[in-house]
Amino acid sequence: MSDTPTNYKGPQRVLSGMQPTGRLHLGNYLGALKNWVELQKDASRECFYCVVDMHAITMPHDPATLPDAVRSAAAAYIAAGVDPEKSAIFAQSAVPAHAEMAWILNCVARLGWLERMTQFKDKAGKDKERASVGLFTYPVLQAADILVYKATQVPVGEDQKQHLELCRDIAARFNRDFGKGEAVFPLTEPLIQGPGARIMSLRDGTSKMSKSDVSDNSRINLEDDADMIARKIKKAKTDPEPLPATVEELEGRAEASNLVGIYAALSGQTKADVLAEFGGQGFGAFKPALADVAVQYLAPISDEYRRLISDKAEIDRMLTKGAERARAVAQPVVDETKKTVGFWG
Ligand code: TYM
Repeated sequence: MSDTPTNYKGPQRVLSGMQPTGRLHLGNYLGALKNWVELQKDASRECFYCVVDMHAITMPHDPATLPDAVRSAAAAYIAAGVDPEKSAIFAQSAVPAHAEMAWILNCVARLGWLERMTQFKDKAGKDKERASVGLFTYPVLQAADILVYKATQVPVGEDQKQHLELCRDIAARFNRDFGKGEAVFPLTEPLIQGPGARIMSLRDGTSKMSKSDVSDNSRINLEDDADMIARKIKKAKTDPEPLPATVEELEGRAEASNLVGIYAALSGQTKADVLAEFGGQGFGAFKPALADVAVQYLAPISDEYRRLISDKAEIDRMLTKGAERARAVAQPVVDETKKTVGFWG
């Protein structure tokens, strides 16, 4: 889009979100949350972290458990180090501007763009005629989450890359069609960083660590205690070879590569650093070291999570405050957008 204006001059803002479906796991932590915590340290950028309960209803869900699932995700954010004083933590559905913006962006996004989304294909499965329309337009709601804050950076894991490219396409198209030479929306930068950006299942190094995997041994949950973490790492699938000395030699060894990546992401090192220390050693030596690192980082998070989740009223107070902060930024953006597209009033 050569005539798309790219002269966005607004403030730097960070937004990200997670679904409140099931428990958060190590992949969510290393792919996203850990970076959320880092980003909030820079006070020049406002950070918005939502629990995307509107996305959660695109698949069959239980209305009775959804509110507690939102509280549970919010508690996990805080336990992992997101500070509700610094960052706005809120439920997506508590900020109506997301839905208003999503409608407008539904009319900007093209059907062909959405038809290319691999996550829809994965989630809808074989019988896509029976999928909800919401599941199909899911990535547009995600773009609305981002653009309703004019967020300039979005920290996520690698699996969100395609959705963030779509968000940029939507922003560019809006700017071109309605911007009158101005970039109304930023072309948001995805922050997909480091060895934690794609954490794989502990049972199968070729599939992503995921909440929906039937085997609980495939993932480390943020709520797991130290014993459970150590047990799951001990049981993790490996191969018979010792660890190699170089990253190149991890090629074709999915499980080994994943465990080295987890160690690197937790300890803030590169895979090369980890191999410099452990190259030549077998998993009998590496797994206990990995378990120690994992417990060292995750046990305080799970302890804090358990403390927070026991006080629902406190979580609700924090979510209410977060939603007020979010609305104060999102509502003026959607009001301006409504004017831009010519709505009455
Ligand atoms: P969700 O809930 O599936 O995942 C939340 C975050 O965790 C990351 N993640 C992983 N990272 C590394 N390895 C893994 N195995 C792994 N599994 C999950 C995801 O990349 C994500 O960053 N559509 C989004 C939620 C969303 C959103 C948004 C994100 C809705 N609106 C706006 C950013 C901005 C999702 O389903 O994430």
